[in-house]
Amino acid sequence: MNLDALHAIAVKMVAPGKGILAADESSGTIKKRFDAIKVENTEENRRDYREMLFRTAGAMKDHISGVILFDETIRQKAKDGTPLVKLIEAAGSIPGIKVDQGAKKMALFPGETITEGLDGLRERFVEYHGLGARFAKWRAVIDIGAGIPSYGAIHANAQALARYAALAQENGIVPIVEPEVLMDGDHDIDRCDEVTTFVLKEVFQELYYAKVALEGMVLKPNMTIPGKKCAKQNSAQEVAERTLKTLKRCVPPAVPGIAFLSGGQSDEDATAHLSAMNAMGPLPWGLTFSYGRALQAAPQKAWSGKAENVAAGQKAFAHRALMNSLAALGKWSPAEEKKAA
Ligand code: 13P
Repeated sequence: MNLDALHAIAVKMVAPGKGILAADESSGTIKKRFDAIKVENTEENRRDYREMLFRTAGAMKDHISGVILFDETIRQKAKDGTPLVKLIEAAGSIPGIKVDQGAKKMALFPGETITEGLDGLRERFVEYHGLGARFAKWRAVIDIGAGIPSYGAIHANAQALARYAALAQENGIVPIVEPEVLMDGDHDIDRCDEVTTFVLKEVFQELYYAKVALEGMVLKPNMTIPGKKCAKQNSAQEVAERTLKTLKRCVPPAVPGIAFLSGGQSDEDATAHLSAMNAMGPLPWGLTFSYGRALQAAPQKAWSGKAENVAAGQKAFAHRALMNSLAALGKWSPAEEKKAA
């Protein structure tokens, strides 16, 4: 393992004022997004949509350090025949690849999932490296509900994350380690803190047992935040303070960076929370975004599958990228949001 090379990539992924575009929706997930804007889920539409994002030159160059791709996309070519990976590289951004094969029902653990995809992963990493991927993502999903999560599910998911991360590093690829505690329920912020802490402690223990070098990885966690259906919703400042408290207790400073998922937060909440945290720095790690929905909901709506809307879609994407770039520097404010819009 060439740890210096892995470390250099990880540091670049969380460079100041830059963050990651999670454009790795599986064909099933992108269908849900396209349904919402009444766009047919064809290979060509998926290509056109993602080409629009990757050709937003200013935003890609200035604010997006890396792009997470789905298997189909890393092999796809733009309309003019240029591989989409080359568009990303030309903007100075790093191509990455989602390698997990989804969260599946965990046998004997009702209501819980285990993420699959370890079989044959070494060979897949070799191929993805050849296709240009320099980092990867594996998402474990932990749901909060009555009697869950169980230790068995947390442990199995943490161990799978660690086995994935070790294989990635062996093959010169920086692993994004993503244990997502969902914000779907009615639990409060204290319960999210309790579960997230347990999950992160377990993940870092398993990473240690698997000999993963923390200097060559990026953590992609949820924020410490109440469930969407919780009656008490906390202020941005409270979410920021609680999230930093959780992370400082669980994430060693050897980890170069933390890049949050948005998890169903509104665009502006995801930005406000990130900015409030960075404004409380200095922090032991780079702290930025790796957003899917919070970066793409606006451009998807503006585009709506029409070629004549490409400029509007790119403008909406550039706007969210800039807002989140400011947040990564702790410099976003609602006034910036209005000024730029
Ligand atoms: P969201 O920001 O939409 O949660 O997606 C990020 C991601 O990559 C989830 O795996």
